[in-house]
Amino acid sequence: SDKITIAIDGHSSTGKSTAAKQLAQRLKYIYVDTGAMYRAISYYALSENIYRDNQLHAQELIDSLDKIKVSFQRNEETDRADVYLNGKNIEKQIRTLEVSSIVSLVAEVSAVRAKLVAQQQEMGKEKGVVMDGRDIGTVVFPDAELKVFMTAAPEVRAQRRYDELIDRGDEVVYEEVLKNVIERDYIDSTREDSPLTQTADAKLLDTSEMNRAQQFEQLVQWAEEAM
Ligand code: C5P
Repeated sequence: SDKITIAIDGHSSTGKSTAAKQLAQRLKYIYVDTGAMYRAISYYALSENIYRDNQLHAQELIDSLDKIKVSFQRNEETDRADVYLNGKNIEKQIRTLEVSSIVSLVAEVSAVRAKLVAQQQEMGKEKGVVMDGRDIGTVVFPDAELKVFMTAAPEVRAQRRYDELIDRGDEVVYEEVLKNVIERDYIDSTREDSPLTQTADAKLLDTSEMNRAQQFEQLVQWAEEAM
């Protein structure tokens, strides 16, 4: 059957990207982690001191956008797409709590969104794509054949995120991770441009009490129904 577009949106640390990646692999579709793109620009803001004194200097970021190139390249070892900033692999650098703590501020800047949305639409224009983010079903691909909205209880999400960070050797405190998850959800859902919201045509996947295999199975079933 013909290739479709699959949009996966939802709250932070719901297991979206893992599930979306698996689904893309099964369907032999392209997978795009749009959060990584916002994280790459956040990493740029941190390294160029555009975020300083606890403040994002939005105009400076807007003035720099033409100098920022975000791209993906397959990693032979992990067989996954790593994110690159101006030709440099920054996959490891974007997963820190430091980046997580400013990414929602960066994602509020409309010029940043416009740049990334255009790039995402280009990446998915041939269909056969699974894209995960916050505005995929609402803004990037409003005509997607399958839209999924993923959520889970904040404590469950924070625990999963905490375990991931600890696994990587990061020294984090659970309460800080929980605070970040709640804060990001709040900013993402209440911002003016492209707020995170579940549309009427999106299927709700609450993963609070589901393991990865169950999430995957549900997604595969919905994908097959949508084809
Ligand atoms: O998916 P991930 O948690 O990596 O996304 C990081 C942040 O990037 C989100 O909290 C949100 O602020 C922003 N984002 C967005 N729109 C997207 C993807 C991510 O605003 N499509």
